[in-house]
Amino acid sequence: MDFEDSSKFSIQLLSTLPSTSAMDIPTLSVKDMEEMKTDPHSVYRKYRNMYPVVFNEKGSYAVLRHADVQCLSKDPRLCAIETIYPEMFGVTSGALFSFFEQGMLTTNGESHRRRRSPFTKLSLRQTVEDMRPVVRQTANDLIDSWYENGQVEFIEGFSAQLPSCIIGDFLGLPRADTSYFSKLTHEMGKFLNIGVSSDEVSNAKSAASDLKDYIEQKIIERRKNPRDDYLSVFLKANDESSQLSQLEFVFQIMVLIIGGTDTTRTTIAITIALLLQYPEQWKAVCQDPRLIPNAVAESMRYEPVVSAIARKTLEVINIDGAIIPANALVSLSTMSAMRDKQVYDRPDIFDIYREKRDRVHPIFGAGVHRCLGEALARIELEEALAVFSVRIPHVQLNYQPMISGNTGALRRIDSMELSWSNQNSL
Ligand code: HEM
Repeated sequence: MDFEDSSKFSIQLLSTLPSTSAMDIPTLSVKDMEEMKTDPHSVYRKYRNMYPVVFNEKGSYAVLRHADVQCLSKDPRLCAIETIYPEMFGVTSGALFSFFEQGMLTTNGESHRRRRSPFTKLSLRQTVEDMRPVVRQTANDLIDSWYENGQVEFIEGFSAQLPSCIIGDFLGLPRADTSYFSKLTHEMGKFLNIGVSSDEVSNAKSAASDLKDYIEQKIIERRKNPRDDYLSVFLKANDESSQLSQLEFVFQIMVLIIGGTDTTRTTIAITIALLLQYPEQWKAVCQDPRLIPNAVAESMRYEPVVSAIARKTLEVINIDGAIIPANALVSLSTMSAMRDKQVYDRPDIFDIYREKRDRVHPIFGAGVHRCLGEALARIELEEALAVFSVRIPHVQLNYQPMISGNTGALRRIDSMELSWSNQNSL
């Protein structure tokens, strides 16, 4: 089966897999699945030391160790999941289905190369570096809007807004639309969790449809009145080259908007929350901004927003004797890999001074699908932290925020309250 043929794969094949016990791959128990909700690291730790792979009864094989996750992310014997995932939930048409069928994130081979190539410029630092002052100003403006209150619901007041404003600015979407499309992307993001409820599936379907309509409308406007923004630039290039069909173009913009919002939203919240839980490290960051890039890298290692990268096997894969069959769903667990003691010294300690770091951060994936927005995400994370540590060094968490969605690909924090007294005393 080559990459293009693989679209014919059906999830039903999963039910024909041989039993997992015969493959010497343990299955996560009901108790493990429950524990995953509150402490996924202890579940992975328990298995990772003994087994390279665990089976999740929802139908996927989780690869646990750093070396295996890194190798398999680039291994041509695995490919992106195409439409398997929506089909698992009976979604076989409509905008949510098309997101998987048409978007670069979940497609393979020539289609993927063609869909990704018009946007590779985004991955270059110089393309996005000039967004830095806008990111800083936006972070300051958001803080200005609630600073005097002495408290804030941080997700709504800051971390949900900053990435949406910035991806919107980048594409030239009006700031007045930010909360509209950010709500839609968030509803779609919830679909990327295997434990999604039927209500969430139907919300995700209508959110995808509304987001598609919204993007189509913006494309019509830009075609009539091109502007000095990347939506106009990408659109003009595509109209001249006809590299992508109109439908493909719409869905690549959707991938950019989805990729550029909830991932960064939750990472900003996790980074601030972790630092506030380790006050000595927070104080150090406030006193020395040169620590910021390390603080961001360490928080993405310690509590990654993307817990796993989904793949499908094109042939049988043998990992140290654990046999994963062909046509199986695999989740390359970045969350487990980044706590692997074979690679990290004291992996369960949050330490922004950590010396041994991955040269290329695993949180952004590897191989042909590696994140196109890494440079932009890093600018947003660094600037958010820089502005926050200068403006509100005396901030505190009102309670420990809960990270949910641990059994899915995209984790999230739904609420996080911060408070401070309005005098600067660190
Ligand atoms: C902390 C923030 C972010 C994280 C952790 C993250 C993580 C990832 C990962 C792991 C992948 C690869 C998925 C796979 O291999 O299946 C990916 C792909 C992608 N990301 Fe990000 N991302 C972040 C921010 C962004 C931003 C800000 C943008 C947009 C500007 C973006 C746009 C994309 C796109 C377009 C892809 C698809 C690339 C492809 O399939 O060829 N991401 N991201």
